[in-house]
Amino acid sequence: MDNNRVYIFDTTLRDGEQVPGCQLNTVEKIQVAKQLELLGVDIIEAGFPISSPGDFKSVVEIGKATTRPVICALTRAVEKDIDVAAESLQGIPMERRRIHTGIGTSDSHIKYKFNSNREEIIERAKHAVQYARKFVEDVEFYAEDAGRTDNEYLARVVEAVIAAGATVVNIPDTNGYCLPMDYGTKIKYLFDHVPNIDKAIISTHCHNDLGMATANTMAGLLNGARQAEVTINGIGERAGNTSLEEIVMIMKCHHNLGLDTGIDTHKIFPTSRMVRNLMNMPVQPNKAIVGRNAFAHSSGIHQDGVLKNKDTYEIMNPQDIGIDQNAIVLTARSGRAALKYRLSTLGHNVEGAELDSLYQKFLDLADKKKEIHDDDLLLLVSGHNTKQQYIKILKLQVTSGIDTTPVSVLQISTGGVVRELKADTGNGPVDATINALKKFLSQYKMELRELTLQSINKGSDDTCKVHVQVEVNGMICYGFASNTDVVLATVEAYVDAVNKYFVITNKDNVEDEEEEKK
Ligand code: KIV
Ligand code: ZN
Repeated sequence: MDNNRVYIFDTTLRDGEQVPGCQLNTVEKIQVAKQLELLGVDIIEAGFPISSPGDFKSVVEIGKATTRPVICALTRAVEKDIDVAAESLQGIPMERRRIHTGIGTSDSHIKYKFNSNREEIIERAKHAVQYARKFVEDVEFYAEDAGRTDNEYLARVVEAVIAAGATVVNIPDTNGYCLPMDYGTKIKYLFDHVPNIDKAIISTHCHNDLGMATANTMAGLLNGARQAEVTINGIGERAGNTSLEEIVMIMKCHHNLGLDTGIDTHKIFPTSRMVRNLMNMPVQPNKAIVGRNAFAHSSGIHQDGVLKNKDTYEIMNPQDIGIDQNAIVLTARSGRAALKYRLSTLGHNVEGAELDSLYQKFLDLADKKKEIHDDDLLLLVSGHNTKQQYIKILKLQVTSGIDTTPVSVLQISTGGVVRELKADTGNGPVDATINALKKFLSQYKMELRELTLQSINKGSDDTCKVHVQVEVNGMICYGFASNTDVVLATVEAYVDAVNKYFVITNKDNVEDEEEEKK
């Protein structure tokens, strides 16, 4: 074994996907999994099979759709979970199957979650590993909340699960509590005190609650851990997980650390963009490595330095992470062939009728904005704005300005039935339109909880992406839309969220309810 090789365990499709509003369907998960394979990750955590039929299916399908990475299924330290995980992995060659089982080991988890004691938890941990080993040769054990687990006890747990057959032991900082120094010391403590530690790989799994996930992961790797559990763009529960791109680029930029991964860094940016688009999860503009501004030098002194020599202010080359600064920008004069070629470079091979239909949508968009960038194309392909929706916006006319009360006139259809125009006012064009929309849906209690607007590129004719959280009858629903018109994009995102409420609650009788009220 190469002692300097760090295994990259990607949990975008499990821990990352647990983020409310980021759920992907199986087809989308397969798309991400294939991209992760191209990126070169070693292990894909594909789901938590007992948690839902969708997760079960994703593990099965991701196993079929990929050929190289190990496919991992998560379980609790519970026999039934392990049975279901083993079943989901059945169609995958044995050398690519991994079960990831575990239990909380901090005093808080032992007492409040399990109402148990330290000795009993060790027995349950050993049993889970032994049980999982009946199905697969590769069993990873996680000591949940290891970050707050007493080191002496943690060392006993680690020794016991390795003796029981664990091939990898994960030391999660579940609550993102540790300081880098303490997390590093914890890993070192295990190497110094667990006699059989050389029989397993030690893994880091850090959450970012205090913004230290990357620093903690590096501290773990510098003290002997050789697997890093990460997600694309650092997505994950609460403040997220360690981001893959940061860990990989730290190792690349600091070769003196002597640590390598199997990642093709040129695929980092395309993967980040795919996950951002499919999950509708914006990346903060100043996010390290993949944020829009990560390589944008704005101050005069920096620009001058970079023009003289890139080395003055750039520690890495944007091309190394796959940012194509010479990307072709399409316009209304671009033909089908250019569109087809550009889409193929973005991983979408379209032809025939599908290409014709996309070309038409492309021309419609190109009529509204001069330059069509890759992100515009990805939005066109994802078809966000053309999904079958119960509520559809048919007409919208808004008046707003100085010394004018904003007024919106709106027409929608519900379940294919065209409704009469309704108008309302508000403190701005968006408020007026949402008030008008509420008039159609007066029987539902709706509240806009969160609104994020982002432009794709630049220019006043740019496409605006909008993410919203809307509370409908007490249920939080997430919506997304993009449009060159900011008000329309916002209202479409709002409607997208409300439509999700109808899908989740199987409601398709807005009209009837209104009729009944009359
Ligand atoms: O954060 C955590 O502890 C986890 C485990 C389930 C591995 O995600
Ligand atoms: Zn986690």
